[in-house]
Amino acid sequence: MSSVPVLTIDGPSGSGKGTLARRVAEKLGWNLLDSGALYRLLALAGSRYGLEPHDEAGHAALAGTMNIRFSGDASGEEQIWLGNDEVSRELRTETAGEGASRVAVMPSVRAALTERQRQFAQEPGLVADGRDMGTVIFPDAPLKIFLTASAEERASRRYKQLKGKGFDVSLAALSQELAERDHRDANRAVSPLKPADDAELLDSTGLSIEQVEQAVLALAKARQLFR
Ligand code: C5P
Repeated sequence: MSSVPVLTIDGPSGSGKGTLARRVAEKLGWNLLDSGALYRLLALAGSRYGLEPHDEAGHAALAGTMNIRFSGDASGEEQIWLGNDEVSRELRTETAGEGASRVAVMPSVRAALTERQRQFAQEPGLVADGRDMGTVIFPDAPLKIFLTASAEERASRRYKQLKGKGFDVSLAALSQELAERDHRDANRAVSPLKPADDAELLDSTGLSIEQVEQAVLALAKARQLFR
C-alpha cells in the first residue's frame, strides 16, 4: 500500500462527512475521495445500461470500466461526469443514494471498486469519505474519524441540504429512507458500516461544521499529519 497519508472519515448518512471531508481536504491541500459517489455512479450507470438491480456480475464488470470524472466548474461547484453527462445533481437525490446502497451490498462490486478507490491516494495526501474507508480500503490510515449525529439531526441536515439545492423533499419520507439505508449499510455481510477499532468517534450533534472541522484538524495536527 502507498505511503501517502490518508485521513478517513466514515459514518452514517447525513452525519456531515461529505461537507467535513471537503473542508478538511481544502484546508490541507489534499485530494478528496467521495466513495459514496462511486457507488451512486455505479447504480446510475447500471440503470442506464439496463442492468437488473440484482445483477452482481454486470455491476462488478461495470465498476471496473465505467468512465467517470470529478471536476469543478468556474464557481468551484463540484461536477461529476458519467461519460459525457454531468450527473452531480441526479446523484444527490435519495433515489440515487438508495440505488447505491443496493449495489453496495454485493461483494464482487465492492472488490471491483477497491483498487479504484486506493488510486485516489496521491501526494500530498488524501481525505477519504465513506462507510469502510478506515476498516477496509485504507486500514493503515494514520487518522480515522467515525462521525455520527442523532438520527433527527442527520435527517434534518440532509433535508436542508436537498431543499437548498431546490429538491422537493419531505422530512418524514427522508427520515424513513435514511433509516432504511443505514440499516442496510450497517447489516450487510461485507464491509458493514462500523467504526474501525482505532477510529476516533466524533458525535457532531449540536456542533457547527466549523467546530467539527477544528476538532479533526486538531487531531490531524497532534498525529503530525501536517505541520
Ligand atoms: O455517502 P453516500 O450517501 O453518498 O453513500 C451512498 C451509499 O453508498 C451508502 O448508503 C452506502 O450504501 C454506499 N457506500 C458504501 N461504502 C462506501 C461509501 C458508500 O457502501 N465507502
